[in-house]
Amino acid sequence: MRVALIGSGGREHALALKIAESPGLEELFVIPGNPGIKSIAQNITIDSSNHQAVVGFCSEKKIDLVVIGPEKPLTEGLADSLRSAGFVVFGPSRNAARIEGEKSFAKQLMQKSNIPTAAFKVFLKEDYNEAITYLHATKYPVVIKADGIAAGKGVIIADTFEDAKEALKECFINCSFGSAGNKVVVEEFMTGQEASIFAITDGTDFILLPAAQDHKRIHDGDLGKNTGGMGAYAPTPFVGGEELKIVSKQIIKPTLEAMKSTGSEFVGCLYCGIMLTAQGPKVVEFNCRFGDPETQVVLPLLKGDFLQLLYSAAIGKINKQAVQISDGTSICVVIASRNYPDSSEKGIEIFGLENFPYESSHIIHAGTKEVNGKIVTDGGRVLGLVTSIEKSDLKLCKEKAYEAISKIKFDGMQYRKDISDKGILAKR
Ligand code: AMP
Ligand code: GLY
Repeated sequence: MRVALIGSGGREHALALKIAESPGLEELFVIPGNPGIKSIAQNITIDSSNHQAVVGFCSEKKIDLVVIGPEKPLTEGLADSLRSAGFVVFGPSRNAARIEGEKSFAKQLMQKSNIPTAAFKVFLKEDYNEAITYLHATKYPVVIKADGIAAGKGVIIADTFEDAKEALKECFINCSFGSAGNKVVVEEFMTGQEASIFAITDGTDFILLPAAQDHKRIHDGDLGKNTGGMGAYAPTPFVGGEELKIVSKQIIKPTLEAMKSTGSEFVGCLYCGIMLTAQGPKVVEFNCRFGDPETQVVLPLLKGDFLQLLYSAAIGKINKQAVQISDGTSICVVIASRNYPDSSEKGIEIFGLENFPYESSHIIHAGTKEVNGKIVTDGGRVLGLVTSIEKSDLKLCKEKAYEAISKIKFDGMQYRKDISDKGILAKR
């Protein structure tokens, strides 16, 4: 099979590694890819917003399957452009990608189908006064979310009415989130452990991959600012067989049915972010793609033919036996550059990459660049150190991960020291 993968981050490096394991792979191209991917696939410099150029490349290379990694090309309708040109695509249409791109769409769909999620209300910019009246009367803390994609920054947890008013001002008056903030969703605050679950689906049928737990805050102990994700581990002990059954039956199945019935059939990876509340799992968010850094820890737990799984889903006949889930454990520690998430330091040389793979660990590139044969930092989240072991032992996996991380050095590097601790403590 000749495959084109769209994207350039850590998630795409992890996807490329797994696709490259498949016996059915003939050639893999990554658009645009990154320096870490270079040894397993061909990086192709094309702007994925240029649909005509992507379609042209896929025609020229006789591509059998296109896998779209990030949300941006999906919400821009790249899957639609490729399908119209006759290509098989793993990834939802522009309409279906609204499940991530428009939070109010996702919330209303869940409400209609009785899918467990936080209670909410939607306000438009012109409803400012009504929103203020509502916020006066509501319970605190309350969660205020910009409706559109705001680079992970559009969620504000307000402890008081004053904070909530400020958040509303950011969205409606200061327009800090651009048009993403023209509509807001005000949500009930939920408490509990969070988990990320990927459903691989052909639009009707699906399989769930092992649940992961992300670490979104910059500092240990879940303190400090929100980031794109500072690390993850899988499987998480917070999601057992019982929770997976509930997620399947009460969340994924009705969501896919609702999407199909509104003419927005969802084909690809439906990312379900859940909160394990005292009342059971509830949806925090849906994403229209694999998670980053969760993909880096979930894929090493799969045996079998991942490419076959993606292809079969993309053609509408998912082969649920294509992969099997191992008994292993995986941890990804994200290594970020100085000042992330406020800014990122670029062009700093990275040392020690030649030590990998090291025992059970390998390096994922997320924000790097090759300059004169040297690998330098090129973003906030620079690398992911992934450690995977074959047994169910999170504590051992963590020890191995942090031993391996000492082999990497660059000026200003920062990483959390407590990735997977919540899972380790839960098991005791
Ligand atoms: P989201 O972008 O929707 O995933 O939100 C980012 C983070 O905000 C989530 O991972 C949660 O930690 C938190 N969050 C979002 N919605 C809620 C909610 N209704 N209650 C509590 N925390 C929330
Ligand atoms: N790790 C969170 C996300 O991919 O959205």
